[in-house]
Amino acid sequence: MAKLQAVIYDLDGVITDTAEYHYLAWKTLAEELHIPFDRSFNEQLKGLSRVDSLEKILAEGTEQYSPTERQRLAEKKNDHYKSLIQEIGPKDLLPGVYQFMLEVKEAGIKTGLASASKNARTVIEKLEITHLLDTVVDAATVERGKPDPEVFLKAAQQLHVEPSQCVGIEDAKSGVTAIKSAGMYAVGVGDEQNLSEADWVISDTSHLSLDRLKEKL
Ligand code: BG6
Ligand code: MG
Repeated sequence: MAKLQAVIYDLDGVITDTAEYHYLAWKTLAEELHIPFDRSFNEQLKGLSRVDSLEKILAEGTEQYSPTERQRLAEKKNDHYKSLIQEIGPKDLLPGVYQFMLEVKEAGIKTGLASASKNARTVIEKLEITHLLDTVVDAATVERGKPDPEVFLKAAQQLHVEPSQCVGIEDAKSGVTAIKSAGMYAVGVGDEQNLSEADWVISDTSHLSLDRLKEKL
């Protein structure tokens, strides 16, 4: 990469561990519906929109649900989720994330958020990191969810930066695919095998450092 101009972050599972709360909220719903649900199945849901996740879960069961019932189920999951995130705050930022975001910002590199979540703005406000993000693109403003690159491309466009000069950071396989399809450099946070499409995989956010990233580019 000629010059790193922007870092675009995923939210859930990268900046904070809300991925765990999405998991718990889906698990509660799946149990209510008597549909088997575990962490390995949940991996496939990471990064997907609320409706796409619900479709995948319902496909594991035998019952048929009307569009109105599906909407009610999606709202129910969101209610579980919202009650779980009620108390989150700056203490819930993942290790090293705040320092990294600050380092990036202070280096004059632009920053963006590319999230599939309609709760993204609420979450970043609770985490008190809104000032560290030059632009926010969330599920409410894109037509196609991850693995489609739209959310990352839109963030780059809003930052007036070429995708090839951007780094995207993701914990979900679908998210890494979205970054790569956008033509960006992908940092994966999590399991190397699961995120094998990423250019650089780190096991957790404590390994994020601007110097290391620049060496890798
Ligand atoms: C993504 C999460 O960031 O947002 C998914 O990885 C989640 O697990 C999706 O389903 C949608 O979130 P929300 O808050 O709009 O239901
Ligand atoms: Mg994520």
